[in-house]
Amino acid sequence: MNQRPRRNRASSAIRQLVRETTVRPSDFIFPLFLVDGNNIEIPIHSMPGIARYSEDIVLKQIEECLALGIRSFVLFPAVEDSLKDKEATYAMRSDNFYLRAIRSIKQRFPEVCLMSDVAMDPYSSDGHDGYVEDGRIVNDKTLPILGRMAMHQAEAGIDIIGPSDMMDGRVGHIRQALDVAGFTDTAIMSYTAKYASAFYGPFRDALDSAPKFGDKKTYQMDPANKREALIEARLDEAEGADYLMVKPALCYLDVIQTLRQSTSLPISAYNVSGEYAMLKAASEKGWINYDRAMPEMLLSIKRAGADIILTYFAKEFAQMYCEGRIEY
Ligand code: PBG
Repeated sequence: MNQRPRRNRASSAIRQLVRETTVRPSDFIFPLFLVDGNNIEIPIHSMPGIARYSEDIVLKQIEECLALGIRSFVLFPAVEDSLKDKEATYAMRSDNFYLRAIRSIKQRFPEVCLMSDVAMDPYSSDGHDGYVEDGRIVNDKTLPILGRMAMHQAEAGIDIIGPSDMMDGRVGHIRQALDVAGFTDTAIMSYTAKYASAFYGPFRDALDSAPKFGDKKTYQMDPANKREALIEARLDEAEGADYLMVKPALCYLDVIQTLRQSTSLPISAYNVSGEYAMLKAASEKGWINYDRAMPEMLLSIKRAGADIILTYFAKEFAQMYCEGRIEY
């Protein structure tokens, strides 16, 4: 035999030399759920290890994560039902707890990269990402709301605006609103190919944000479609997105790979709540080796072509990484 591929697998040191992909804590954006109040920590049952935190506890979380090498975070607000309405007006109150938390995180840890969520659903009495009229999600009436939401977040100090709503034209609209207001350095990470997925269930529990009627299929993408992701990617890039995201990650690795080949922008992937819950549940039952399966999942997302991973596994991975316990 002229070639024996096994020679390059002969020892751990050799395998490390020829390893094509790596995952490091600096690849992550860690999602954090925020609630109003003080000293509050409410576990999310369908996401073991993840909780909703008040601002003071979030600051401690961020401090711990920084020590582990995680420097980027995406923040989601869990808003009380009584504050929700059709126009998501709570998002535009400049003293709301979400914007207050952004300001205090930035003041305490100016070095962190903070990403926001721009969509109506956490603030909407309809539980939809867009403005609802006669049971329909109205695209163009949603855009100014998203633009105002983004401006408030930029003003509070957000580094990367994260439109997650899948309305047409939102990236361009937000970009223009930010530029006119002077926030030319605030970036946009567009949820470019966000699919109408069953894997968001635990997240909607966390925010209590499930749609009050119908589903999200008239705005989120059909899981059957891949070419359509290229249409979305072209539009987002032309409208001024700085990053493109694919969501969920694990059932859509082919979409990540396709976008990677068609754009030079950085690509992120959202390893969503249901993907986290599945692995946690199987490992709690003793059916899977968590310490090995978790890094393998994250590796697959990088190997498919993602530069950045939004994942609830971030902190646990970083702990294992710092202790030298990551084995692929
Ligand atoms: C909504 C939003 C969702 C997630 C992030 N932003 C849920 C949805 O579209 O219903 C899901 C994240 C996850 O499941 O981890 N704007």
